[in-house]
Amino acid sequence: MNETYELEVNGVRYPINAAMDRNLLSVLRTEVGLTGTKEGCDDCECGACMVLIDGQPVNSCSYLAAQAQGREITTVEGVLDGDNLHPLQRNLLEEGGVQCGFCTPGMIMSAQALLTRNPSPTREEIRIGLSGNLCRCTGYQRILAAVERTAAES
Ligand code: FES
Ligand code: FES
Repeated sequence: MNETYELEVNGVRYPINAAMDRNLLSVLRTEVGLTGTKEGCDDCECGACMVLIDGQPVNSCSYLAAQAQGREITTVEGVLDGDNLHPLQRNLLEEGGVQCGFCTPGMIMSAQALLTRNPSPTREEIRIGLSGNLCRCTGYQRILAAVERTAAES
């Protein structure tokens, strides 16, 4: 049975009418209509579904949407700088850290959380900060370089 509640996503309040056992990933994609957050494993393994909840990176496939009531949810759509790319997005593109792009939204959310708590991370700290995000295309080095470059620019 559906219940009605509200979620705040990227600073906007959305009314939700959904079953209480729906995960946040599916509610974001199908009820809120923000499809930047991806479903990979649906089992808390790949990080493709990473969003921020009150600034903390969370795998949204393994988090009940109803539990996010009253919290601030940020998705990859929320890190855009107006019509401009976020520096992480631009640097991922320019450093060659994007191939198929499926992991990219989740990488951006984990990197964003890392740079907020540690604006000048070492490469090892970046590696640890992104350790919950799998990429089957790039070999990771270009992604690490993009995050390093973003930190150096800010
Ligand atoms: S889809 Fe959530 S961790 Fe893979
Ligand atoms: S670019 Fe394809 S999974 Fe990372």
